[in-house]
Parts: sequence; C-alpha cells; structure tokens
Amino acid sequence: MSQRERTFAIIKPDAVAAGHIGEIITQMERNGFKIVGMRMRRITEQEARGFYEVHKERPFYADLVKFMTEGPVVVLALERENAIAKWREVMGATDPKKAEPGTIRKLFGSSIERNASHGSDGPATAETELGFFFSTADLM
Ligand code: RTP
Ligand code: MG
Repeated sequence: MSQRERTFAIIKPDAVAAGHIGEIITQMERNGFKIVGMRMRRITEQEARGFYEVHKERPFYADLVKFMTEGPVVVLALERENAIAKWREVMGATDPKKAEPGTIRKLFGSSIERNASHGSDGPATAETELGFFFSTADLM
C-alpha cells in the first residue's frame, strides 16, 4: 500500500501576477492534494540562488533567479498518496509547449521558464525544499 507523502509546490510570479492563484489551488484540491502549508511571500535573490543551486552552471540560471524574484509567489506544502510524482504529473512538462492538455503548465505557462509552477523532483528535494520555506509549526 502506498503511503501518504508530502511535496513542495510554488505558484510562480507569472501565475500570481496573471491572477491564477485560485485556479491552481482548485486543481490541487481536485487532484486529491490536501494543503498542509501555504503562504504568499516574495523570494529574495539570495533565497532563489540557494533554491536553484543545482542549476547554477546552467545558462538560464541568472534569468531564472530574476524571474523567481520579480514578484510575489505562493509556497505550498501538499499531501496525498504519491504526492511528489502526482504533482509533477498535474503540472505537466517543464516546457508548456510539450505539456499535456489540461496540465497547469499547459493552461497557465507561457514559456519554458515562465511555466507557472514548481514541484519537488524526489523525496530528498521535497524534504529540503519544505524545510527551506516552512518550519514544523507552519505545517498542519
Ligand atoms: P521546477 O524545478 O521549477 O519544478 O521545474 P522542472 O523540475 O520541471 O525543471 P528544472 O529542470 O528543474 O528547471 C527549473 C526551472 O528553470 C526554468 N528553466 N528555464 N530557459 C530554459 O531553458 C529553462 N529551463 C528551465 C523553469 O522555470 C524551470 O521550471
Ligand atoms: Mg526541478
């Protein structure tokens, strides 16, 4: 039997600015995710650099840091069975052009960079990323 699991999600600055917070949260709930932590905030340049450190040698790193700090985001802790893989499935491919119809990135993303949402890519990253933005007292 698979166990309930937690993942970390971000509604990125493009989706917040375009007024899609509600629709994205609706998709989370429709897909069986329980929201166990949520906050609207800005990400500082230092935080963005640390959060995306794995990509620091990539050509898009500076742009990505600039994008993630351009406006407020919503950070969330989501829980369900197989949450990490399931949330990545609901988000769709990194590039909205390649994402399946009905996915968050297909619906709300506008480019490979401005792709509306983030999701942890494995148990270790989920743990680190949740800890990056939430303390235990923040999580239900
Ligand atoms: P995320 O970490 O945000 O959930 O996205 P992901 O796993 O699907 O993609 P990843 O390879 O981890 O890339 C992180 C974010 O960097 C931006 N990106 N830009 N310009 C580019 O070629 C490019 N490639 C990636 C996207 O915002 C991507 O979500
Ligand atoms: Mg990633």
